[in-house]
Amino acid sequence: MSDRSILLIITGGVAAFKSLELIRELGRAGVKSRVILTKAAQEFVTPLSVSALSGEKCFTELFDLDDEAEMGHIELSRSTDLVAVCPASADIMGKAANGLANDLASTALLATDKRVLYAPAMNVRMWDHPAVKRNVEALRADGSIVLEPDEGLMACGEFGPGRLPEVARLKEEILTALSPDRSLEGKHILVTAGPTREPIDPVRYISNHSSGRQGYAIAASLRDRGAKVTLVSGPVSIQPPAGVELKKVETALEMLSAVETALPADAFISVAAVADWRPATASDTKLKLKGGDEPVSMTFAENPDILKTISNLAENRPGLVIGFAAETNDVSAHAQGKLQRKGCDWIVANDVSGDVMGGENNEVSLFTKDGMEASPRMSKAQIADWIAARIAKALS
Ligand code: C5P
Repeated sequence: MSDRSILLIITGGVAAFKSLELIRELGRAGVKSRVILTKAAQEFVTPLSVSALSGEKCFTELFDLDDEAEMGHIELSRSTDLVAVCPASADIMGKAANGLANDLASTALLATDKRVLYAPAMNVRMWDHPAVKRNVEALRADGSIVLEPDEGLMACGEFGPGRLPEVARLKEEILTALSPDRSLEGKHILVTAGPTREPIDPVRYISNHSSGRQGYAIAASLRDRGAKVTLVSGPVSIQPPAGVELKKVETALEMLSAVETALPADAFISVAAVADWRPATASDTKLKLKGGDEPVSMTFAENPDILKTISNLAENRPGLVIGFAAETNDVSAHAQGKLQRKGCDWIVANDVSGDVMGGENNEVSLFTKDGMEASPRMSKAQIADWIAARIAKALS
């Protein structure tokens, strides 16, 4: 690591002091830190202590003649291997997620052409706030790494997730981000995600609760490892990951056709919650109430099983075909049955009896012909990484 350097942005928070230790630890690993302190960060650590540890001038001001003469803000944001924001306040993530740039730190984040890693630290209620969640999701979709904060007692006396991770973990995450795994370079991977929507008439449809989050996170993780990713997605309300080819579809039939068109691929990951049935005929006009006591019935037609179809292709079958099994009971038995029935190579199974569908965390079991491996309970982004690492290993 002796020739690597990071631009470390320290924002305001009680945890800012940990960044001083981080500078020292990174230095021991041969990584140089050039540091920007926000105005609020200077309430917790001083430019002098930062400079003493980093051995470099500490930058604080946008358009300050001294700072800009030393190194302009654009160069500052680019002459580095990685930008690390640590601790990352809700404010800086909100600015970066929305493209705001009104001080040196936020301008550097907007101007950089390097990967950005955020290590959030804030009060548990702030971390749980929907606005912060939206911003974190947007930053991840843009290709940034946002670490999960630690859980524990906070400086404010409350308990929960929001603590800055320990310096050892921060150092580990930064070193990993500095030597990214590009093992999927040159591979084309096809991922389906989200629900499908099966029309009843022009205003009504049948669908399910899938949010698309797990599939989108897997697509982003595969992209991070260098794969060319085609993401065939049903209708979702989340941001697509940058740098993947997105094909939007509505129905299962459209999804199958988009998948077939996107072949050949080295791997096919079928994360979508495809509707098993569709109304046999979708009315061209809005169906009207008939009135009376007669029960209303509808006839359904079976949708094609996309996973099974791709698994059984005689030509162009991707080398690795992975299905997902969302089950509410007997997860293992159902997953093994599915592996056989569908003819895919792996099944990633999860118990969706809790809050998995539409929720933020997940816990999966990976079934292959050789056995089973269980993941810990993690965020969907971490689960995606866990799965992507195994795909990368299998494809190499
Ligand atoms: O049988 P089940 O729906 O539980 O199987 C789930 C797996 O099969 C998922 O990988 C899903 O993407 C895929 N599937 C499919 N086409 C369908 C139904 C499910 O590709 N019509």
